[in-house]
Amino acid sequence: MTIPLRRLGKSDLMVTPIGLGCWQFSQNRGWNKYWPTLPEDEIEAIVAASLDGGINWFDTAEAYGGGESERQLSRVLQKAGRRPGDVIVATKWMPFLRRAGNIGRTIDRRIDCLSPFPIDLYQIHTPDSISSTEKTALAMAALVKAKKIRSIGVSNYGEKEMRRAHHVLAEEGVPLVSNQVHYSLLHRLIERNGILNAAKELGISILAYSPLEQGVLTGRFHDDPAALKAVHGLRRVRSFYRGQALRRSRDLIEALKQVAERHAATPAQVALNWLYSFHGEAVVVIPGASKRTQAESNVRAMTFSLGPADLDCLNEISRPLMDR
Ligand SMILES: NC(=O)c1ccc[n+]([C@@H]2O[C@H](COP(=O)([O-])OP(=O)(O)OC[C@H]3O[C@@H](n4cnc5c(N)ncnc54)[C@H](OP(=O)(O)O)[C@@H]3O)[C@@H](O)[C@H]2O)c1
Repeated sequence: MTIPLRRLGKSDLMVTPIGLGCWQFSQNRGWNKYWPTLPEDEIEAIVAASLDGGINWFDTAEAYGGGESERQLSRVLQKAGRRPGDVIVATKWMPFLRRAGNIGRTIDRRIDCLSPFPIDLYQIHTPDSISSTEKTALAMAALVKAKKIRSIGVSNYGEKEMRRAHHVLAEEGVPLVSNQVHYSLLHRLIERNGILNAAKELGISILAYSPLEQGVLTGRFHDDPAALKAVHGLRRVRSFYRGQALRRSRDLIEALKQVAERHAATPAQVALNWLYSFHGEAVVVIPGASKRTQAESNVRAMTFSLGPADLDCLNEISRPLMDR
């Protein structure tokens, strides 16, 4: 089955509606020890399953294990026989406690970690740089002009910051391609705070992270609350795992199950499909996976279509839950 590709923003990057989030490949390195270490052959299997299922792009970041996720991604893509240009790679610069000048000083490290794969999309991970939005955007534009990166995205930017970055880059003749933000059927803030509408207006793609609410939308914690005990460290204290939150989202999980049954699919596949279908081509999603079976299952979300009745029904049921 051929999966129709989508253009990322106003770039020439054509991506599948689902990409693979690679935060899970951090291998417990760096300061962000959110996910447990994965066996290297499991990482290879996750990437192989994603490629086999048709996925053509991957999202990683400097902050994911201090470059470890980037190195793992490059290693396993090469092991899978992929060459530069065969896939699209997105990574991110971490602005925390840094100035815009750091973007140019650290780009060669990012290039080394991903080598031989080029950086197709370089994103500013958060708007928290010490420097202004304008200065960071200009530092990114300089990388495009120097041909160190192919295109520019941001992440976790609010509407105003996104508009400013778009404007500064447009004056440099470079499009702002994407804003990577938290978006799922349980977290629809971008529909109310102006981000989604502004992105549609400006031709900026939304890259939806945590699209399965870190496993909650699979229904596995509703079906077996004891499964929470296996969740690693910091992640377990996230609000969406609490008893009350799980009780509130139960009706949505039941609705996902009903829709899934009609499509011979799973609740997680329906949740991913809804996310990239409900707003036309404005949104693409990047579920993460810690097991081959999860990656295999998630790519199959691209093998069926949800009709208007299913899209609307899930919209209505999730709407009261979206005020978090
Ligand atoms: N820009 C940012 O600030 C930002 C923030 C967060 C994430 N991201 C990006 O977005 C990607 C995805 O976000 P995320 O990892 O936070 O959340 P997610 O994709 O909603 O959840 C991933 C987790 O859900 C579980 N899962 C996934 N598929 C499953 C399936 N088919 N069946 C059962 N469980 C399944 C796994 O949990 P277990 O490992 O427990 O099995 C997996 O580790 C990340 O990898 C990263 O690239 C970016």
